[in-house]
Amino acid sequence: MSSILIIDDDNQLRQSFQKLLAEEGYNVMSASSGEAGINIVKKNTLDLVVLDMRLPGINGFETFKQINNIDSKLPVIIMTAYGTTETAIEATKMGAFDYILKPFDIPDMLKIILQALEAGRFMRSPVQMNAGPDETRHEAIIGRSRLMQDVYKAIGKVSPTNATVLIRGESGTGKELVARAIYHHSLRSEKPFIVINCVAIPENLLESELFGYEKGAFTGASHRRVGKIEQANAGTIFLDEIGDMPPSIQAKILRLVQEKSIERLGGMDPISVDVRIVAATNRNLEEAVKKGLFREDLYYRLKVVTIWLPSLCERQGDVPILTDYFLSRCASEVGMDNPGITDEAKEILDNHPWPGNVRELKNTIQKALIFNRGAPVTGEDILQAIGKKVPVAETSDDAIRQWAMEALTSGQTENLFDTCMDRFAGILISQALNLTRGNRSRAARLLGFSRPTLHSKIEKYNLKPDSNNSL
Ligand SMILES: Nc1ncnc2c1ncn2[C@@H]1O[C@H](COP(=O)(O)OP(=O)(O)OP(=O)(O)O)[C@@H](O)[C@H]1O
Ligand SMILES: [Mg+2]
Repeated sequence: MSSILIIDDDNQLRQSFQKLLAEEGYNVMSASSGEAGINIVKKNTLDLVVLDMRLPGINGFETFKQINNIDSKLPVIIMTAYGTTETAIEATKMGAFDYILKPFDIPDMLKIILQALEAGRFMRSPVQMNAGPDETRHEAIIGRSRLMQDVYKAIGKVSPTNATVLIRGESGTGKELVARAIYHHSLRSEKPFIVINCVAIPENLLESELFGYEKGAFTGASHRRVGKIEQANAGTIFLDEIGDMPPSIQAKILRLVQEKSIERLGGMDPISVDVRIVAATNRNLEEAVKKGLFREDLYYRLKVVTIWLPSLCERQGDVPILTDYFLSRCASEVGMDNPGITDEAKEILDNHPWPGNVRELKNTIQKALIFNRGAPVTGEDILQAIGKKVPVAETSDDAIRQWAMEALTSGQTENLFDTCMDRFAGILISQALNLTRGNRSRAARLLGFSRPTLHSKIEKYNLKPDSNNSL
């Protein structure tokens, strides 16, 4: 459960916040002054602080600076009224996660809280490379194949440089995980890591989100806003799905890469920024360049340092290790013990082509754990989770066995064998008739009978074409 601290001197606001966030499942603490808030930060492990700018005693800005000194990775959302927007902007430039204007819209607020918590998690939980399947403390990149060893080497080499890095690979191969590993192993690991997903944000918002804007830049720009790039100053910005970035914004990113400067929308002066860019895409950029969808100059700038992630089917021997890892991790996430897995299930996993790569494998294990409720994961659970039909023979055999067992233990032994055989024959023939919608010639062919033989059997078992017998 995430812990959130609210610092505001307005009792009513604190109480309504407390109620709202507790209902959302957060653990909430509150303080009515900066000093009290700082004390709570010193003594507790928190995931987020929501801080008012106007406070008695030490003001919000000073409070932010002290919190930031205690824990630079603790995300802080600033609440501000119009009069204090400038100081909120200053705080954002110094690393506050974001600021919101009072009075605020609750759904918007909850959305920012979720984003801030995720950003905090990304910054705090180091990504371990080449860990064993029993790694549970950290997020980890699992895999011992030669191709993954090459990836670890590349991460090790590029991390401590300030070079722009492009991460490529199919969907679900772990590009985001690699971006975070680069951040954690870089010289900027104590500075912000800001993620921008270029497809998740509508084109008209992406530009202002990245570069910010000046007051009056467009209708509705009632105050200045600092963009994510400026917020990431001295740190790292991860441009996820860069292959989907609109061309107008690509031009501005090129300028950022080349000149290390940006302009806010509606701004006159270039602002110099020191951010490291890590970008990722699953698109075929060469193709996009040919089609004029991706700028060639930006492509050449980005591709200098490229890390290619192999698809999962190329990683020899990694599926079993990843399976063990996801089994223990996913089980512990839902609070159960690792139930283990049968050899047959492991073999099915190892032979599957995994078009959705590691993400698909993880989802499959998660689903299989739900299906089997604590017993060792079987081949059937896996097939069901992958969405493949379980082979017919296996299930019907089970049902037939159960039916035979019931017949044998029913206590009626007279003519048991013939009665069972007749009943089974009746079911088989009526299913053939159902399948062929009563067409006796086709049903006879399916059953390997002549038409007259089928006719006599229908008489014998007294079957109607759509009679629905079941075991
Ligand atoms: N080698 C790995 N070891 C452990 N977990 C992994 C590994 N690779 C990927 N994952 C997990 O698989 C999921 C998908 O990974 P990620 O989001 O990094 O993929 P992606 O390449 O960014 O995919 P997309 O192109 O669809 O955005 C995540 O839950 C991630 O933690
Ligand atoms: Mg991704």
